[in-house]
Amino acid sequence: MDLEELKIEVGQRAAQEVRDGMVLGLGTGSTAEAFLRSLATRVEDGLTVRGVPTSERTANLCRELGIPLTDLGRDPVLDLAIDGADEIDPDLNLIKGAGGALLREKIVASAARRMLVIADATKYVDHLGAFPLPVEINPFGSAATALQVERLCSRMDWSVDAVIRRVPAEPGQPEEPYVTDGGHWIVDCKLGMISDPKTLDAELRAIPGVVETGLFLGMADRALLATGEGVEVLERQNG
Ligand code: A5P
Repeated sequence: MDLEELKIEVGQRAAQEVRDGMVLGLGTGSTAEAFLRSLATRVEDGLTVRGVPTSERTANLCRELGIPLTDLGRDPVLDLAIDGADEIDPDLNLIKGAGGALLREKIVASAARRMLVIADATKYVDHLGAFPLPVEINPFGSAATALQVERLCSRMDWSVDAVIRRVPAEPGQPEEPYVTDGGHWIVDCKLGMISDPKTLDAELRAIPGVVETGLFLGMADRALLATGEGVEVLERQNG
């Protein structure tokens, strides 16, 4: 099976976890999109749900697919958040944010009674950190904030270039900083292996200018991993 098929398989399985009447957190990314497409067919068949999207991209897709939307003003407590991840460790700690939606994803996941993370099995790792850690920052003073991120990493024994994520504004145009839905920028930190994610997360978030990190610690309750030989279910053991 190729990765696209695995995403579809785990997306279909996640859609089966949704119960009538649930208020959902709706993730961002290609795996979350596969889930939304399966959820939409259940909605067409009469399932009643509403969801808080974690990005404008997800909101637009939901509108196209006919999935009813709500927001955290009307529904401040969600039954279940379903989202993808870039890395998942054995304690179901996550790195998220390759799609740039980490802040809204974390707000939505923390408003949910439960978080279900969905991925193909290539995302499962012994230790977080091979995937560059996204850190969302305020554009004001971005160079100074990035420097403080690098200094913190160097105190923790990593030699890191905190690289501001850049994308072309239009195809063929020069690259500009990637702007999140909240108007912030992202620095991607190649760390290698994160042995103490809790301390790293706390210290990064203590830097003025850092808005949020892509470390989702102790948030996911359950993971569905598409392996090519079925979907493996992992439950968080601690906490
Ligand atoms: C979006 O900001 C991310 O957190 C995604 O959930 C994560 O990057 C996984 O995306 P894919 O399912 O596309 O790999």
